[in-house]
Amino acid sequence: MPTLPVTELPIVQSPMAGGATTPELVAAVTEAGALGFVAAGYLTAGQLHDRIAAVRDRTRAPFGVNLFAPWPDRANAQAIDAYAGRIAPDADRLGVALGAPRWDDDDWAAKVELLLADPLPVVSLTFGCPADGTIAALQRAGSAVAVTVTTADEARSAVAAGADALLLQGAEAGAHRGAWTPDAEPVPLDTLLAEVRPLTDVPLVAAGGLADADAVRRVLTAGASYAQVGTALLRAPESGASEPHKAALASAAETTITRAFTGRRARGLVNAFIRDHGPAEIEAYPQVHHLTRPLRAAATKAGDPDRMALWAGTGHASAQVAPAGAIIRALTP
Ligand SMILES: Cc1cc2nc3c(=O)[nH]c(=O)nc-3n(C[C@H](O)[C@H](O)[C@H](O)COP(=O)(O)O)c2cc1C
Repeated sequence: MPTLPVTELPIVQSPMAGGATTPELVAAVTEAGALGFVAAGYLTAGQLHDRIAAVRDRTRAPFGVNLFAPWPDRANAQAIDAYAGRIAPDADRLGVALGAPRWDDDDWAAKVELLLADPLPVVSLTFGCPADGTIAALQRAGSAVAVTVTTADEARSAVAAGADALLLQGAEAGAHRGAWTPDAEPVPLDTLLAEVRPLTDVPLVAAGGLADADAVRRVLTAGASYAQVGTALLRAPESGASEPHKAALASAAETTITRAFTGRRARGLVNAFIRDHGPAEIEAYPQVHHLTRPLRAAATKAGDPDRMALWAGTGHASAQVAPAGAIIRALTP
């Protein structure tokens, strides 16, 4: 069975779809001795191909790719229409039209085909664990497969499905929940780690709110083989997060878990959009993601943090403005 690549440091860089995870960021953390991940989410297979090539141009060390596993279309068209009507004034204010609320599977089959034809040492999955033979096919191609889990039940199922490693995502984590079903309640990382460690011998990667070397030491002592960090890297110069997002991370604002921006639970800094529309949030991913996309893009361009998705884990206030390699070294116990 393939195994996770051996890295100098027990740190994994969170794949962060939507722009933060540039090739420069992945290469910088990888060169610093951590395990970097390209975020394939929202990219076409062609764009993913180019992104992998751009990282390979910058480092010879091993890195991985993260895919969004396909999910069923659970949305209700009437609920989407009602939600669109509710948020339309926000789009008007920014001078844009809302996007078309379509379902898609994030180009899953084409991305898997690409990774089978040109394998990487590790592929990680979030949002689910496909039972369609993909895991075994990736393993036959030589990739270790790591599956994101948010509950002990998901961990049991991932091990039964043949996962080579589990990515434990605690409730504290920034951005989307990797939960396999909409009703999986977020579990604090320490609890999740204590529940999952006795269930399996596969390596565990612990993620969620890890903001300093003490926190990393804590999860390693509790049985994780690696600590995964995302928010801690968002303010690095190599991060592609927008300037208003980087600036907002430094604020003392609270974070919350909301479906308001994308129709799937995700943790971000509380702002006016979440306060206004969180109470009417609906479970409809990726339809609401596509619906709000032009609004979020326009808000970012206008520097309007009240209508942007300011994804952040609970440790956001500790995120440093420093080169990614230096951040990784500072997080290493
Ligand atoms: C901006 C952002 C984007 C993210 N995008 C992804 C993604 O594409 N795939 C994924 O598996 N996890 C994604 N995550 C979640 C991370 O894998 C991980 O759970 C999280 O970064 C850990 O919490 P932390 O941000 O507090 O360190 C994202 C996190 C952030 C902050």
